[in-house]
Amino acid sequence: MQDRIYAEPQQRVSQFAFDEAVARVFPDMIRRSVPGYTTIIPMIELISARYAQAGTNLYDLGCSLGASTLAMRHGVKDKACQIIGVDNSEAMLNQCRQYVQEDSASAPVELVLGDIRQQPIENASLVTLNFTLQFLPPADRGPLLASIYAGLQPGGVLLLSEKVCFPEPEQSLQEVLHHDFKRANGYSDLEISQKRNALENVLITESLDTHKERLRQLGFAQVWVWYQCFNFVSMLAVKL
Ligand SMILES: C[S@@+](CC[C@H](N)C(=O)[O-])C[C@H]1O[C@@H](n2cnc3c(N)ncnc32)[C@H](O)[C@@H]1O
Repeated sequence: MQDRIYAEPQQRVSQFAFDEAVARVFPDMIRRSVPGYTTIIPMIELISARYAQAGTNLYDLGCSLGASTLAMRHGVKDKACQIIGVDNSEAMLNQCRQYVQEDSASAPVELVLGDIRQQPIENASLVTLNFTLQFLPPADRGPLLASIYAGLQPGGVLLLSEKVCFPEPEQSLQEVLHHDFKRANGYSDLEISQKRNALENVLITESLDTHKERLRQLGFAQVWVWYQCFNFVSMLAVKL
């Protein structure tokens, strides 16, 4: 279904939420709004194939409709891994459950309706945060990443995709290109500006340096960017 949530003028734009209306149009919304998303998802399959360790857990935190969860599932093949997808949006998780049932891969998937900040991380070889950490209050990000680090096995990996911010003038230039991307995908200026208002104080970006520095301070031995398109970045952080 086409995303037309912000197509008509709204007197008061309410805060963005992952509710029923968003769940219905989410695949179209994220494909047309996040540069690189359609490349990142199949790469998660390759990254899972490389880093998933037999007999471990793989977590997808903020799994939404399960695009990243299913990419992980197809990547691990028959390595005897348990995949755990977590999301606190009931609307998202209900739809996700259906996609998991219809999917052909065989690795077991458990879906948890809950807050990723309360999710125990144990015996993990891969944890994915694909455009989810940005929705947590900044003060909650370090503790979540610390619990991920503690729950990873040696050689385990965190895949972290985020919208990031830059010092000026790069910030403005990257933003212009992002808006060009949205316009090229059929969003009007009204839709772009109403969505931006809805996301204010909901999606809070940090700089790439802030992300990298925090991951290193938490103990990740190797941290690098494996993908960037405009102000959208995906990193890998390895625990040795
Ligand atoms: C941009 S979407 C993630 C997209 C998804 N990972 C993918 O690759 O298609 C962010 C998701 O994080 C979920 N989320 C945000 N904050 C959360 C929290 N504190 N606990 C659990 N889920 C959360 C939202 O409900 C939403 O489904």
